[in-house]
Amino acid sequence: MNVNVFETLEDACHEAAYHIEALINRKHNAVLGLATGRTPLKLYEKIIHLHKQGLSFKDVTTFNLDEYYGLSENHPDSYRRYMAENLFNQVDIKEENTFIPSTTYGSHIRAGSEYDALIIEKGGIDLQILGIGINGHIGFNEPSTAFRLNTHLTALSKETMHVNKNIVQESMPTQAITMGIQSIFKAKSIIILASGKEKGNIIKKALNGLITPEIPLSILALHPNVLLFVDKAAYAVMTSDEDMPPTLPSPIPNKALSIRLNF
Ligand code: PGA
Repeated sequence: MNVNVFETLEDACHEAAYHIEALINRKHNAVLGLATGRTPLKLYEKIIHLHKQGLSFKDVTTFNLDEYYGLSENHPDSYRRYMAENLFNQVDIKEENTFIPSTTYGSHIRAGSEYDALIIEKGGIDLQILGIGINGHIGFNEPSTAFRLNTHLTALSKETMHVNKNIVQESMPTQAITMGIQSIFKAKSIIILASGKEKGNIIKKALNGLITPEIPLSILALHPNVLLFVDKAAYAVMTSDEDMPPTLPSPIPNKALSIRLNF
């Protein structure tokens, strides 16, 4: 995992957008893995800006990480709606090339395995954008989720429901369909975006301690092509001595292959 530190989350998002631009310039029919939440909003703003300058998404396919269970596509809290408003409606992507795990199929299992099969059919994800939860979840793979899972129905943790209830407009869903850790791990490359002290704290634990399902993010230390983009606030916590497990000698994330400061 290579760590890149930026002054602000916005700077990190802009760099991620340039990676997406470079990928599409190299491969017009690139397959992107996309995330929702607060973190990637500036990334999508920047992508829209790049689109206005000529970057085309007409051959691009996207797979979103997750969707709340039981919400219709037009529900104000659905991730389909989030993606439509924050990205899809503002670039030239074809709607039929945008995939989000379905919560409206008759069988969740079918929805899950179909989703993973579709990703493979489209050639696999070239670049997965990831946010992380303050408990280290990736997608909605909450602590204790088995690493081997593909796309599946899951219960949201209390912590996630607490954090996300401030951004849902109606009642907080309790379940979601999420790409599993195995589905995420299959992406050819991954950019993780994170900002602020709480995210810095869980990254520090993930990169310094054991690889464990208790911190889903920790498994990505084994992925061969991960860029972790953090802001200064997160990095300050990642490199502070506070709360370091007593057995570990150094506060520098010891699973980081390289650390680059971009400010
Ligand atoms: P956030 O969510 O970007 O709203 O902090 C990230 C996540 O839960 O994965």
